[in-house]
Amino acid sequence: ATASATPDSTLASDSHPNQPFVIGVSGGTASGKTTVCDMIIQQLHDHRVVLVNQDSFYRGLTPKELERVHEYNFDHPEAFDTEQLLECMGKLISGQGVHVPIYDFKKHQRSSDSFRQVNASDVIILEGILVFHDQHVRDLMNMKIFVDTDADVRLARRIRRDTVERGRDINSVLEQYAKFVKPAFDDFVLPSKKYADVIIPRGGDNHVAIDLIVQHIRTKLGQHDLCKIYPNVYVIQSTFQI
Ligand code: ADP
Ligand code: C5P
Repeated sequence: ATASATPDSTLASDSHPNQPFVIGVSGGTASGKTTVCDMIIQQLHDHRVVLVNQDSFYRGLTPKELERVHEYNFDHPEAFDTEQLLECMGKLISGQGVHVPIYDFKKHQRSSDSFRQVNASDVIILEGILVFHDQHVRDLMNMKIFVDTDADVRLARRIRRDTVERGRDINSVLEQYAKFVKPAFDDFVLPSKKYADVIIPRGGDNHVAIDLIVQHIRTKLGQHDLCKIYPNVYVIQSTFQI
């Protein structure tokens, strides 16, 4: 057997001191992913943290697809432009700023003339239902968090959100949920939970889990700073469990 200098399991788990710390946050629809990310960002106010949403990389629908939008599966991995997401994350990780597309959930299209400018940062959080699905995307992450919220709670939140914010009526939300959202959760989202380092039950209500995660990120960022000052000194890594 050939000895490998870098074991596969440590692909991105210990990031290079000069590279940002990348966190993936996944979970079912309306599980509280964005809420958890916002809470982490608030607590890390003294660091440069950016949030990248996988939703921004939804492919815009063609006129033909728009005509039959109720037959379109927005919960399938193919609904996202993962190549573009990878390119964008690659640039951010190498310290370059990027233009992230702006997606409109009412029109099922990206904005043709505006982007969100995202600058290089110490911490990059990538959030979305399928961010653990693609291995190349997973391999960018130093830490993976799965937000685990009961399906009935998620459906109730989704009905409220989609009718209030995303221009849907309740029947279309329920139909889409039964036809696409729930089956895709079972086929793609739930199986990707096994890649998580940390599972947060109850999402944003779980302050203890979020505090522990923030503490861990702070420790990692501190190690980065130490490595920058003393590049030849090893920092002993600790394991982390909730
Ligand atoms: P996701 O990013 O996973 O889709 P969000 O964080 O956007 O989930 O939450 C989905 C909806 O549920 C939003 O309308 C949000 O305000 C609401 N929500 C999220 N967490 C909670 C909570 N702990 N209690 C009540 N409502 C919540
Ligand atoms: O914010 P959340 O994680 O819930 O966003 C993902 C969900 O958005 C998917 O479950 C998908 O069904 C839904 N979606 C939609 N219409 C679009 C794009 C995504 O209902 N045009």
